[in-house]
Amino acid sequence: MANYHIEEMLSEEEVDRRIQEIGDQITKDYAGKQVHLVCVLKGGAFFMCELAKRIKLDTSLDFMSASSYGSRTESSGLIKIVKDLDEPLKGKDVIVVEDIVDSGRTLSYLLKMLKEREPNSLRLCTLLDKPSRRVVDVDVEYTGFQIPDEFVVGYGLDYDQKYRNLPYIGVVKFDDTEE
Ligand code: IMP
Ligand code: MG
Repeated sequence: MANYHIEEMLSEEEVDRRIQEIGDQITKDYAGKQVHLVCVLKGGAFFMCELAKRIKLDTSLDFMSASSYGSRTESSGLIKIVKDLDEPLKGKDVIVVEDIVDSGRTLSYLLKMLKEREPNSLRLCTLLDKPSRRVVDVDVEYTGFQIPDEFVVGYGLDYDQKYRNLPYIGVVKFDDTEE
């Protein structure tokens, strides 16, 4: 039996409104250019699709998947590329789209690796940021929401592969189990 429940932290409307604002900002910042969105699977997929629809520029998409050897709720520094990008990044204006930056380990590794592929520019866009958890410094250009140190699910984020499809951001609250 589940000993936790999920409480809404950010409603679907709040998240969608914020994604619209980020889309508008990117449309302005990259005016006259073509943007290449790189989605970090699986968590970034929901955010990237919503964001891409709101960028009013020529936009191409690519996907990659990295797994960090860690526990269910904490990443380690070790990252393995499970699925690499299909397209080269050379000369492109790349925005990496992530669900959440937590310790920053995954992103700092990925960004270093992608930079070596010589994009024209490389920026990071994340739906959520937990700044209090940062272990490795990463430059985030676009942030949806800064959130406190809580374990969240929904909008791509999972707990044990569940809840990615929730249309809002919820906090996993662990119940007292003593009886
Ligand atoms: P980092 O390397 O510690 O920054 O970890 C980033 C990854 O950990 C994210 O891409 C998520 O997959 C996962 N993660 C971190 N915090 C949460 C959370 O609150 N809910 C679900 N997944 C999380
Ligand atoms: Mg992720």
